[in-house]
Amino acid sequence: MNFSERDQRVIWHPYTPAKGTVKPCPIKSARGSYLYDYNGQRIIDAISSWWVNTHGHGHPHIAEKVSEQIKQLDHVIFAGFTHEPAIALAERLLERLPDNQARIFYSDNGSTAVEVALKTAIQYYLNKGQKRSRIVAFEEAYHGDTFGAMSVSAHSIFTAAFTELTFEIHRIKLPANGNEQLSLDMLESFLKSGEVAAFIFEPLVLGAGGMLMYEPKALNRLIQLCKKYDTLTIADEVMTGFYRTGRFFASDYLTVKPDIFCLSKGITGGVLPLGVTSCSKDVFSAFDSDDIQKTLFHGHSYTGNPVACAAALAAMDLYDMQACAENVDRINKAHLIFKKRIEKHPLVVDARVTGTIIAIEIKTAAQTSYTNTIRETIVAFFMEKRILIRPLGNVIYVLPPYCISAADLHYIYDSIEAFCEKLLRQKDL
Ligand SMILES: Cc1ncc(COP(=O)(O)O)c(C=O)c1O
Repeated sequence: MNFSERDQRVIWHPYTPAKGTVKPCPIKSARGSYLYDYNGQRIIDAISSWWVNTHGHGHPHIAEKVSEQIKQLDHVIFAGFTHEPAIALAERLLERLPDNQARIFYSDNGSTAVEVALKTAIQYYLNKGQKRSRIVAFEEAYHGDTFGAMSVSAHSIFTAAFTELTFEIHRIKLPANGNEQLSLDMLESFLKSGEVAAFIFEPLVLGAGGMLMYEPKALNRLIQLCKKYDTLTIADEVMTGFYRTGRFFASDYLTVKPDIFCLSKGITGGVLPLGVTSCSKDVFSAFDSDDIQKTLFHGHSYTGNPVACAAALAAMDLYDMQACAENVDRINKAHLIFKKRIEKHPLVVDARVTGTIIAIEIKTAAQTSYTNTIRETIVAFFMEKRILIRPLGNVIYVLPPYCISAADLHYIYDSIEAFCEKLLRQKDL
């Protein structure tokens, strides 16, 4: 029995139709920005394996620190116990987070980091004797797949089967493309009710919603408005954190700072799962009580796992190196040059860049959406070129590990252009 057959007998893959035609590609190893299949053929990982792998695969420094940690302390319950890697990581994250951040709560992934943030915001008000349970989010938001995270995400094919069971929230327009004032007005109309506990957002780039980008100035105004109405703000930096948008956090572009942060993905350099929710001193003070009712009753078996924390500490060592910031800058400059070239193509509706992310929206007969069927054609074309690209429908994006070479970046750009050319020729026929 070959890989495919064995896989199909026992595995259920994420976001993948069970009877789909695309067979999963078996990967044997990975190094730097390359994945290697069982024939030794390499594939360029142009999307950092779902936006997590920032320093490249198999980084020796992370591998060494993880291995040392496993031998020293693999795991310990995190209620009533603590350890050096969890404390050291919290200290280092707080050094990098805005000054208002004071406490770190660990969980397992991006969705759980969001769950913790939502529960914290709602209980914050309860602990202060107020009942506020409404959340505001962007119409195209994506915050994860657990129920709370689904509730604050866009209504989409991802959530359709569960709409009745998700909780109701208020949705506002993204403050971009002339909707800046409308977005503010919508937010204010909801804040006036006094029932809103928090506004949650992906700062500067809405990832799964289609790599939609908006300006820090517009986000500053929304956060400022929340402050006026004493409403908490939650920056979901699960995708945007760790230099993805050019600065360490996307919130580093802001002048007004959010109250709560959600981190994951790049936190361990894409090596082990880890989620973090940080909060301000003010938020924590509402829980800082010996009244058991005011406890945040949330945790996971692997909360604060020492090995994941060690991986994150090693990833932080690499983030602290000048070479990392230089690579980020290099990728951004290359993206901007390619954007100028590709945006002139007749089949490109829009090309946009923030930091190390470039997104290119392809013109198709069907609307821009995750379910746009051109997706499969794009995936097949790039797999043939030995490039891993996972478009959001008709939006092709590149979000590479920071160690990607200039030659590989240019090969990806040339392949995108070749795809557009091929599509144009087909349309001519
Ligand atoms: C902004 C954002 N928040 C949350 C999540 C959920 O993270 P995870 O897939 O680790 O649960 C994602 C995942 O893509 C994300 O992009």
